[in-house]
Amino acid sequence: MKLFVDTANVGEIREAASLGILDGVTTNPSLVAKEKREFKELIKEICSIVDGPVSAEVVATDYQGILSEARNLVKIHDNVVVKIPLIKEGLKAVKSLKAEGIRANVTLCFSATQALLAAKAGAYFISPFIGRLDDISHTGMDLIREIVTIYRNYDMKTEVLVASIRHPLHVLEAAKIGADIASMPFKVFEQLVKHPLTDIGLKRFLEDWKKAGN
Ligand code: E4P
Repeated sequence: MKLFVDTANVGEIREAASLGILDGVTTNPSLVAKEKREFKELIKEICSIVDGPVSAEVVATDYQGILSEARNLVKIHDNVVVKIPLIKEGLKAVKSLKAEGIRANVTLCFSATQALLAAKAGAYFISPFIGRLDDISHTGMDLIREIVTIYRNYDMKTEVLVASIRHPLHVLEAAKIGADIASMPFKVFEQLVKHPLTDIGLKRFLEDWKKAGN
């Protein structure tokens, strides 16, 4: 399973990348807005840190506008994957961009049938938002299970990028289902490393080592 961080903060991205197991980054307009930096410069810096797909989102909602923003975004760096919302105009754009060799991460996916359409349009990634479904009392992980099943049934190449992850159990469940990618906030990335028994065990090993006069 590939692990991405879902942040536009370069400090967090650098720290996650320093572990050597970071495969990519996803951003969205809300995350970028928080950084108060020029968009293209920010994406360029992120691409210089991470050698993997970096999702940068369009804000246009019409076909021509999406195409033109996407073409500009991929000029920033080869790692850029263009994030496009799952709307009619978006699907049309995904199809055209694929013909140009531009990779799309289709975002704001909340149903398996939407994911089916995105794959047929030629999406490189599909981003189902599980946390936001959990927030409204729907089990987000059921959606991941459905999408993975459908894509396997038809040998669809679109990778399932589990988005809107809120805690480590989301990562665990997504991995058990066999989703391709988990994109998580930096906090969750750090939580994955931690286990209290690891800390207790390490403390004891080091104390015993000292006690023996080492
Ligand atoms: C996905 O690519 C989005 O950037 C993100 O996962 C949304 O997460 P949120 O629902 O916590 O805002």
